[in-house]
Amino acid sequence: MTRHTFFTSLLMMWVPLVLQVGAVGGIGGSVKKSVFGKTADGTTVYLYTLRNSFGMEAQITNYGGILVRLLVPDKNGNFDDVVLGYDSLADYIKDNPYFGCIAGRYANRIAGGRFSLNGKEYTLARNNGPNHLHGGVKGFDKVVWNAKDTLGKNEPSLLLSYLSKEGEEGYPGNLRARVRYTLTDLKELQIEYEATTDSPTVVNLTHHSYFNLAGAGKGDILSHELTIYADKFTPVDSTLIPTGELRDVRRTPMDFRTPQTIGSRIDQDNEQLCFGHGYDHNFVLRAGGKNLTPAATVHEPGTGRFMEVSTTEPGLQLYSGNFLDGHNVGKGGKKYEHRYGFCLETQHFPDSPNHPSFPSTVLNPGATYRSLTMYRFSIR
Ligand code: GLA
Repeated sequence: MTRHTFFTSLLMMWVPLVLQVGAVGGIGGSVKKSVFGKTADGTTVYLYTLRNSFGMEAQITNYGGILVRLLVPDKNGNFDDVVLGYDSLADYIKDNPYFGCIAGRYANRIAGGRFSLNGKEYTLARNNGPNHLHGGVKGFDKVVWNAKDTLGKNEPSLLLSYLSKEGEEGYPGNLRARVRYTLTDLKELQIEYEATTDSPTVVNLTHHSYFNLAGAGKGDILSHELTIYADKFTPVDSTLIPTGELRDVRRTPMDFRTPQTIGSRIDQDNEQLCFGHGYDHNFVLRAGGKNLTPAATVHEPGTGRFMEVSTTEPGLQLYSGNFLDGHNVGKGGKKYEHRYGFCLETQHFPDSPNHPSFPSTVLNPGATYRSLTMYRFSIR
């Protein structure tokens, strides 16, 4: 055997071995677990790092189901973190404007913190002016979830589960909620939600990342080009509660049927923008929920990053980071100034329990709440 063929056959022996190792977490996807910190009552909270074969990374903590970091390549192959957040658990516990969390039991607002179900009235916490917001004082964003990481089909995923007891934040029914994050090899962050209850209740779960496709902390999001597949939106009153009307987006700053920068009309003299201090509105998706359908796309021209949001939900909340004012000092010591991030929260419409004409958010025993959302990344 010549030296050349000897080394070639050695190499041939190694190639399948390396591929095999990759299949269980080396070259392909992987999941790593580390300690993130402790809550006030001494519960240890973990940070899970999901990595796909492209080197994309999603770091998720089981405190609030928060997506802490999301590394995505730009047009030159450089990776940046595209979600706002903090370096430490302590910062999330101290003051989190819902960065990256799972919002629930009812994401967004319920008017006056009140609703009736089967003739019985329920009173919830009023934690947002006169209204209930994102599940109350201690919503799903502030609880510790059980977590189990897996590497199914070589795609890293994290399954979170939480039992929200009857009466928690005023809601009826023991609700078992499960949320699975998967970082796929199609460059998607996939989020699957499931819930069951033992007596009738309402449920509306969403993911609340503040995105900045130029990189977190690198400026505002006003030049991001946004398309939303919606012909209508739900106009709100001055406390951001839907009036019940489904209004045409045509000839309004809510018209994102073709790509528009988020900033092009945000400062227009418009009652809705004034109530929201910018965009803080629910769009009625054309597809109307049920099947997984494109809801929105966002393009950041500088880096070429392109994000497509698809969902089975009927609504999408566009929030343009209007309440950010620089007081939140995020990862790497970066200050998050006004409109440094935007949220695209897939959901049922805000205040649905008080609007019989909106798609229902009631969950009955024996039924399973199911919802699926994908954030897919590419370059344009
Ligand atoms: C949602 C709400 C906003 C705001 C943010 C968090 O998007 O609609 O009004 O509360 O959450 O600050």
